[in-house]
Amino acid sequence: MRDEIEALAKAALDALARAATAAEVEAVRQGCLGRKGTLQGVLRAIGRLPPDQRGPVGQAANAARAAVEAAAEARREALRGAQEAALAETEWVDATLPAPPEPRPRAAGTLHPVTTLARQVEDTFLRMGFEVLDGPWAEDEWHNFTALNIPPDHPARDLQDTFWLADGSLLRTHTSPVQVRLMENRPPPIRAVCIGRVFRQEEVDATHENTFHQVEGFYVDREVSVAHMLFVLRTLLAEILQQEVEVRLRPSYFPFVEPGFELDVTFRGRWLELLGCGLVHPDVLRAGGVDPGEWSGFAFGMGIDRLVMLRHGIEDIRHLMGGDLRFLRQFASGVEG
Ligand code: DAH
Repeated sequence: MRDEIEALAKAALDALARAATAAEVEAVRQGCLGRKGTLQGVLRAIGRLPPDQRGPVGQAANAARAAVEAAAEARREALRGAQEAALAETEWVDATLPAPPEPRPRAAGTLHPVTTLARQVEDTFLRMGFEVLDGPWAEDEWHNFTALNIPPDHPARDLQDTFWLADGSLLRTHTSPVQVRLMENRPPPIRAVCIGRVFRQEEVDATHENTFHQVEGFYVDREVSVAHMLFVLRTLLAEILQQEVEVRLRPSYFPFVEPGFELDVTFRGRWLELLGCGLVHPDVLRAGGVDPGEWSGFAFGMGIDRLVMLRHGIEDIRHLMGGDLRFLRQFASGVEG
């Protein structure tokens, strides 16, 4: 019987040595020492032994129980230690190390070619003492049309069909409303340019977009003449076309100037229609609260998308607002950030 006890104990000790988790350790322990365990069955049989054998067998059984109990405890400890060591290995942090590099260096963006030209225009005007500002894209009828001498039934409104918003405002069709906002905000003299986005309800094709960009110039002072206007425009065009240009004025009609002109420049051997301009109409000055008996001014408006297209040989205006990175990345050089 003592051999049997030793065999049971050895089986339990071997199983404990192989146990890989605390739960396995406990299962082996129960299988041997528990109420229905293998050793327990033997212990119950002790009562049926002759009295002289009970003592030694009982001692052997107690020794076996103690050995299994101790081995189970030791195995549990060993497993816990190994688990903690493994955790320490993976969760170890050195807070003094520099941050790991990003997977890929963050790519620098590129300036949109319209932005590049707009900045050039801004710089030119800042050097001439103009301020640079912008007005709201969602305008009201008064600033976009009425105050600019375009009353509700004026046919000029048809030429600038736009998008109307639910609250009765509209997407501005040109940058000219900034003229009126300027006069509302400060007394003359005024020297300002506005470069910004404008919108029209257009049939979109290679030369027409519903979203494009204009530069508006507005100058109000005493006794302003067409000569002043021409000086400023020549300076602007020499800067952005990077050459001395010949300009010509053709009489034209815009409701907010009188006289009004279209200005053309010679470019690559041809006359290029570039912008509208003129002396600010007295009604417009009045709409802005400026006395036309005392003040006069000039204004001009120029689309810049077409200039960008000429500059870079872009054949389709839809590229400009298309957002295609393959298009935009071609302008990466010459970026000043
Ligand atoms: N606002 C006009 C347009 O979008 C352009 C323009 C013409 C602006 C003459 C002016 C100007 O300031 O004097 O067609």
